[in-house]
Amino acid sequence: MKEQLRQIEETASAAISSCTDLRALDELRVKFLGKKGELTAILKQMGKLSAEERPVMGQLANEVRGKLESMISEKSAALQEAAKAAKIAAESLDVTMPGKRPAMGRLHPLQIVENEIKEIFLGMGFSVADGPEVEYDYYNFEALNLPPNHPARDTQDTFYITENILLRTQTSSVQVHVMENQKPPIRVISPGRVYRSDAVDATHSPLFHQIEGLVVDKGITMADLKGTLELLMQRLYGDDCKIRLRPHHFPFTEPSAEVDVMCFNCHGEGCRVCKGEGYIELLGAGMVHPKVLEGCGIDSSVYSGFAFGLGLERIVMRRYNISDMRLLFENDMRFLEQFR
Ligand code: PHE
Repeated sequence: MKEQLRQIEETASAAISSCTDLRALDELRVKFLGKKGELTAILKQMGKLSAEERPVMGQLANEVRGKLESMISEKSAALQEAAKAAKIAAESLDVTMPGKRPAMGRLHPLQIVENEIKEIFLGMGFSVADGPEVEYDYYNFEALNLPPNHPARDTQDTFYITENILLRTQTSSVQVHVMENQKPPIRVISPGRVYRSDAVDATHSPLFHQIEGLVVDKGITMADLKGTLELLMQRLYGDDCKIRLRPHHFPFTEPSAEVDVMCFNCHGEGCRVCKGEGYIELLGAGMVHPKVLEGCGIDSSVYSGFAFGLGLERIVMRRYNISDMRLLFENDMRFLEQFR
């Protein structure tokens, strides 16, 4: 019997030592120490032993049991520890691996410059007004002193929804909305999309952007107009920037002017960029026509005002030295990614 016990101890020890997973370890425990296990089977034969032998064998059997039990629990702890370590290793992140950079969006150059111009005017106490792009003929033309069949309509041919409703050709339509709804003093700018049925080329697009400005108050003069625009251009192009007003005609302003800005390239000397002029035409402006004021219910013997409309594309193209307007609308990322 002693031999059998030693035999069990030996094989069990060897099996436990070389065991590599918890399930198999549990099977070993059942096989050797369980109710129907090998050790129990031997103990059942104790009855056959003599009275002297019994306690000796009992003690030996208990020693073997105790030894195997502690071997199993040590092995079990070791296997659990190893399993945990393996799990941690499998789930660990290598934080030193190079990451995937998300593609960062950025503002369109038209939006960058529009925001900048808005900021400049907000600083001068203007607010921003919005108006519809699908507009009544009345607001786009008639209220601006352009009655049906007026020849100046020819230069602003547009897309008609009905005979009476069209895509606005100028942000000047917002002037009328603002003056209908607001009493002077008025100081607003209105940026937005405008439409004309022009063919696409390097300097034309059937869709482009304007920023309208309107100031109405007592005692507003052409000097206020010039000062405001000069400040705008100095903020945009530098403190030494000068502007020049040339007489012009718009039906809704009187007097009217075209405003040129000193050439950014030659500073007024005359060069290829400005075609020898020293100045570059940038926007239209003038004193709001009394007929327009009166049409909106504003007394033109008390109030006067100035208005201007500038083309955003032109300003952006000058700013970034872009030679073809189509680049602004093609949405080629290689082009757009250059601007911040
Ligand atoms: N709306 C005019 C245009 O598109 C520009 C302008 C605006 C002129 C305001 C005078 C006053 O040509």
